Amino acid sequence: MKSIKFSNGDSMPIIGLGTWKSKPGEVYQAVLWAIESGYRHIDCAAIYDNENEVGNALQFAFKSGLVSRNEMFITSKLWNSNHRLEDVQPALKKTLKDLKLDYLDLYLVHWPISFKKGIGFAQNREDFFTYNDVPLSQTWEGMEDCKSKGLTKHIGVSNFNISKLEEISRTGSQGPEMNQVEMHPLNPQHKLVEYCRSKGIHMTAYSPLGSGDRSASVKKSDEPSLFENPVVVELADKYQVSAAQILIAYSIHRDIVVIPKSVNEGRIKQNLAAEEIQFDKEDFEKLEKIDLRYRFIDGSFFTGSKSPYTQQDLWENDIS
Ligand code: A2P
Repeated sequence: MKSIKFSNGDSMPIIGLGTWKSKPGEVYQAVLWAIESGYRHIDCAAIYDNENEVGNALQFAFKSGLVSRNEMFITSKLWNSNHRLEDVQPALKKTLKDLKLDYLDLYLVHWPISFKKGIGFAQNREDFFTYNDVPLSQTWEGMEDCKSKGLTKHIGVSNFNISKLEEISRTGSQGPEMNQVEMHPLNPQHKLVEYCRSKGIHMTAYSPLGSGDRSASVKKSDEPSLFENPVVVELADKYQVSAAQILIAYSIHRDIVVIPKSVNEGRIKQNLAAEEIQFDKEDFEKLEKIDLRYRFIDGSFFTGSKSPYTQQDLWENDIS
């Protein structure tokens, strides 16, 4: 499978199985179907509340000889309630225990948002830490410690804008190796991609299919459908593939890692097969020329009157 390369020579398969929203009871089988189909990369996070079950599937895969640990690339993410220096390593160790692994391949700061210890989702102003309480540089120092102790091979961030990437790169002894953000033709993140490329930071596209299975409480009623976008539909017809495969191939064409979530055996296989799609230049340009802009995961659950964080601060009002 096509992969991207880190500066030390390690590679990361360009397609990974997303596990956000995959329920316990479904994710075990999904991970095994993925590995059997040829996936060698699973994207996890502590807040997905399913790492224990993902870990059971990985254990089974390793013990049964389906695949070995060093053939797999496993990512996880530090939740917002563990941003203080003293909390980072214990959080990673808990994830390793759940996943039943000795090390991660990649550990990411999930959001540039900090909650007090033990808070799952902050509801009130007093549930949050501000950047004065816990600067991002402090969290990043914890991430660097994890890497130097061998608990993770690579470290990075998620949902970071340019100024936040600059902040941690300035203070840290090493910069982030990955920035995982929402990316698809309606949110191509041109400015951020250009910046990350210039700094040697790799990128991963989350919600490449628009994450239609989010709970209704975090969905807007007038959201556009990526699957029904006329350009996506036209190209799916032309290449005789599904709309989802066009969306996955869009990221691969940009050398951006992509992590479509599925718990369905047929769709898991179909998503991996998107790697084979080779766009003609003018077809990729058609995707680039879609002028509708939309962010599905706007972080509004972390902002507003009961939070010290703002949308402007999160995204710099950039949707390019
Ligand atoms: P399912 O898990 O039942 O396959 P995202 O990766 O953007 O978060 O999107 C995940 C959503 O897209 C889920 O509802 C998932 O459903 C669905 N999905 C995943 N792969 C496909 C596909 N190939 N065709 C249609 N829907 C898909």
